[in-house]
Amino acid sequence: MQGVGAIVLAAGEGKRMKSETPKVLHRIAGAPLIRHVLDAVAEAGVKEIIIVVGQKGELVQAVLGPGYQYAFQAEPRGTGDAVAKALPLLSSECREVLVLCGDTPLITAPTLLRLLEARRAAGAAVSLLTSRFADPRGYGRILRDEKNLVEAIIEESDATAAQKEIQEVNTGTYVFARQSLEDTVAALRPENKQGEYYLTDCIGFLRARQQSIAAVTAPPEETQGINTRQELAAAAALLRQRECLRLMEAGVTILDPATTYPDRGVEIGRDTIIYPFTFIEGKTKVGQGCLLGPAARLVDCTLGDSVGVQNSVVVACTVGDRCQIGPFAYLRPGSVLAEGVKVGDFVELKKTTVGAGSKIPHLSYVGDAVIGSGVNVGAGTITCNYDGVQKHVTRIEDGAFIGSNTNLVAPVTIGKGAATGAGSTITRNIPPDALGVERARQVVIPNWAKKKGKKQKEKKGKTDGI
Ligand code: UD1
Ligand code: CA
Repeated sequence: MQGVGAIVLAAGEGKRMKSETPKVLHRIAGAPLIRHVLDAVAEAGVKEIIIVVGQKGELVQAVLGPGYQYAFQAEPRGTGDAVAKALPLLSSECREVLVLCGDTPLITAPTLLRLLEARRAAGAAVSLLTSRFADPRGYGRILRDEKNLVEAIIEESDATAAQKEIQEVNTGTYVFARQSLEDTVAALRPENKQGEYYLTDCIGFLRARQQSIAAVTAPPEETQGINTRQELAAAAALLRQRECLRLMEAGVTILDPATTYPDRGVEIGRDTIIYPFTFIEGKTKVGQGCLLGPAARLVDCTLGDSVGVQNSVVVACTVGDRCQIGPFAYLRPGSVLAEGVKVGDFVELKKTTVGAGSKIPHLSYVGDAVIGSGVNVGAGTITCNYDGVQKHVTRIEDGAFIGSNTNLVAPVTIGKGAATGAGSTITRNIPPDALGVERARQVVIPNWAKKKGKKQKEKKGKTDGI
């Protein structure tokens, strides 16, 4: 959007969070608070974005990365002072300035566009976004005159008892004509209870100068600010519900949205069914007709169609169509399953490729392995991939059969169609179609039970005789 710049305030201390982490870096729905704000601004088409950071600003910069300009406010002397630090960075093309707080992550692009439009339509010096809160505590209140026009914003700490009754609050989101913002910010004084430069005072100044002020109202679900951990949890719940709604509208069944945790932007195909206590995180993409959960956690995964994942954790893996995972499997980063693979209960995979139709049904650890198609890995199989210094690869070729409780000491290759005997520790390669067995020959002692019984009786007799 031409001629529009945005200033996002993120230099406050966030004292009420009681945290070592800067407030705007606390996360909801998979992203730091401020990222949600920045994404809404970008989605509204605003390209020029200046973020005001303070102490620990380097942490914020490190997380957000390039693509933004940063202004530095050494001391948190108020929102007005923060804006003053950003103004010199605005480009000469910029005529309108969108100001937002980094701690209001629920804001949406359509609302920002409405706010921009309202100022232009009214030819106003500023348009401000307000909300009506059942419990307005902590927010600046909107003062209106008898004609219902906005006169000023009064902060909670400076408000009279009567003003505190007002439920219409300042959301901290505004669009200013650049000149009006520059003129009024320069006039701010820290004459209030908190001794801060309040950006909110600009509104009263503009009114005193007979400039017009437009106001747009948005629902509280979009404008809640986060100052405390309670508010963090409440905002996270709202964002989660919004994401669940988006997914349901796209054809996903969610049995219980209250206990389903999709990160913002995850992709899920239609007719996938999600059972409770399921977390779909990061850049996860799920195909159609899958069954997720109960209690599945997917992080940065790509799943094909008709995949089942029950009570399992899958991190940074690619899973083909019709795979079945769990219950109680753990797939660690770098694992790639072709179609129709089964990874069953109490199986851990790490950096392992599994070919089509192969099965690892129970109780196995398979790490750094390359498994072909049509392989069966018996219960209790372990790849001994680490010699204490280095990791080594285990190769199991197509159609091989790994007997239960096999130890595969890597590096080792099991050839196509080969087998291992149950309980073997395999240290040497097995050629195609061969059987590798490694175990002591079984000894059978005839009539052992009888002899044992006799011995025990004799022993008992002795003790009785005492
Ligand atoms: C602010 C508004 C209040 C509004 C509320 C909406 C002012 C004076 N008050 O109050 O009217 O109802 O937001 O959520 O503007 N910040 C800085 N530098 C500072 C102080 C703050 O960058 O010196 C940043 C913070 O990091 C935060 C934002 O500005 O992202 C708002 O600051 P905060 O202290 O949370 O203001 P509120 O008391 O919530
Ligand atoms: Ca706030």
